[in-house]
Amino acid sequence: MVDDDKRLAAEAALGEVRDGMLVGLGTGSTVAFLIRALGERVRTGLDIEAVATSIASARAAEAVGIRVRDFAEVARVDLTIDGADEIDAQLHAIKGAGGAMLREKVVAAASTRMVVIADGSKRVAAIGAAKLPVEVLSFARRFVTARLEALGAAVTVRDGVTDNGNLILDARFDTIADPAALAAEIDAVPGALGHGLFLREVDAAYVADGGVVTRIERDQRG
Ligand code: 5RP
Repeated sequence: MVDDDKRLAAEAALGEVRDGMLVGLGTGSTVAFLIRALGERVRTGLDIEAVATSIASARAAEAVGIRVRDFAEVARVDLTIDGADEIDAQLHAIKGAGGAMLREKVVAAASTRMVVIADGSKRVAAIGAAKLPVEVLSFARRFVTARLEALGAAVTVRDGVTDNGNLILDARFDTIADPAALAAEIDAVPGALGHGLFLREVDAAYVADGGVVTRIERDQRG
């Protein structure tokens, strides 16, 4: 069951949490398992504080008794645990199906260590099949869409706005041959505020498949 694997991956990553840590909480259904399990550990004495990458995760954490600090007042996070839509053996990931990738990238960058938790369906040989979300200033929506189309994407505008009040463009590429080059191209488009390519942020991943958890460490990549 996918949900069992999400829970197993979350519980495995929880083993990295220590007393006194400031923990970054990602966003999504896999992180929901993490937050529940972390709340249980806090109830039985684990002494941590958290910052959240979305309003939904902050609310979920507070609901299970985790102290959540305002990230706007924080410069360093000890350990962030987050989900992913795709992750490969190089620890390249696509994130943002849940729309939180801009805050997730900021919190990941502030973190001493960032780990991804995922069920086996997220593990891919090479990232690129998933839609790549791009958060855009609504003022720049058409302009950024045209730039993404020029890079080869089919672009759709997602309904609703992000926690930051911006729009999300979902960019679908046939393949992403050079993720680093694509990330640099999107980073250079004015009005594109953030995207879901995480190429250097992830230090490790816990991937659970059929009840078996595998940890991939950046230093041990094959
Ligand atoms: C949200 C994300 C999520 O972590 C990602 O979409 C995975 O979500 P889920 O665990 O529900 O599959 O990047 O912005």
